[in-house]
Amino acid sequence: MKLLVKNIKKLVQVEDLPKRWVAGKDMQTLPCVDNAYLLIRDGLIADFGPMEFCPTGTDAEEVDATGRMVFPSFCDSHTHIIYAGSREIEYIDKIRGLSYEEIAKRGGGILNSAQRLREASEDELFEAAMERVNEIISLGTGAVEIKSGYGLSTDSELKMLRVAQRIKRESPITVKTTFLGAHAVPAEYKGRQSEYVDLIINEMIPAVAAENLADFIDVFCDKGFFTVEETERMMEAGAKYGMRPKIHANELALSGGIQAGVRYSALSVDHLEFTEKDEMESLLSSTTMPTVLPGAAFFLEMEYPPVRKMMEAGLPVALASDYNPGSSPSGDMKFILSLACVKMKMLPEEAINAATINSAYAMGLSETHGSISRGKIANFFITKPIPSYEYMPYAYTQKLVDEVYLHGEKVCNK
Ligand code: NIG
Ligand code: FE
Repeated sequence: MKLLVKNIKKLVQVEDLPKRWVAGKDMQTLPCVDNAYLLIRDGLIADFGPMEFCPTGTDAEEVDATGRMVFPSFCDSHTHIIYAGSREIEYIDKIRGLSYEEIAKRGGGILNSAQRLREASEDELFEAAMERVNEIISLGTGAVEIKSGYGLSTDSELKMLRVAQRIKRESPITVKTTFLGAHAVPAEYKGRQSEYVDLIINEMIPAVAAENLADFIDVFCDKGFFTVEETERMMEAGAKYGMRPKIHANELALSGGIQAGVRYSALSVDHLEFTEKDEMESLLSSTTMPTVLPGAAFFLEMEYPPVRKMMEAGLPVALASDYNPGSSPSGDMKFILSLACVKMKMLPEEAINAATINSAYAMGLSETHGSISRGKIANFFITKPIPSYEYMPYAYTQKLVDEVYLHGEKVCNK
């Protein structure tokens, strides 16, 4: 199977020598080829370059991309895409002035989703999640990390992760899965948080590992949720089964979650609305990707993470959607680019690097995803005719993803 995309106005985010991430000032560079071709063979990127070197007389199926650009698919390294039912009523509570923590304390928030998830069948969850998966595919996402965390009991956490595995088998999108039993303390453990942590360590983690359901382990390490000590115990338990941490940290306070993640070689620490000098210093000497989720800060009207300071300090930054029913009911990575630029003052090049190569790293995929590079998986999209790549974040509600290819095959265009 061969595919040749010709006359590409601009082929965006190309790499001759693949990098694991881009950091600091380098994030301002977005390597591109003008008037380019892209050759795909057996689902992989075989070659690319300027049109003057375009192969001729191949038996490849040809696509003419005149006036249009090609991007590597977005990598969305942090989502809670499996859930039962929306939470627009809490959204009204928020409009009326309640905070995220107040809503959570009243049994809303994550616990509201947990109750509904426990009542839903595996098939129902799968169908609802697949609709969202198909939606994000059509919006240009080619790899997605999916967390559990609305089950909060062994059975329901396993149910969520089995649904995630089924998405992995049945959808062409690349999926990585994360066990997030420590998303909140379930109602039946109210006042007995340490017993719930014991349950996670002694029962849930071994059960998840026995079925090989999760690549990573996550903990909501923050004020009002899990402490640093609890987080460390759970990361340690996960490590025994080879689950590398990806931690929800510093969304609500300077919780110490970033440093804890770094100490346990987390692949990423995510949210980071509360990040100061100490947090940045600990990240600098680590292999942990700072990941920011501006969709959540936007929806909850929180302070945005100090991304410019992080990049000035030399750090890499990744972007993800946090697609979930409570704090970010959208998985539109193009809108995330716009938020990154408007609200966090990222340059378009920085935002695109953050949503492709760096977010690929944040989900353990930078060797196969996140750039147009020979040998990588052919996950990419062709835009509508656009004047420049900067137009992508600028035209913040326009649907600009025209044709989507995953493993070199056209998936959908609407
Ligand atoms: O990443 N912060 C923790 N978890 C989610 C919110 C989940 C929910 O409200 O349902 C987040 O924002
Ligand atoms: Fe999240």
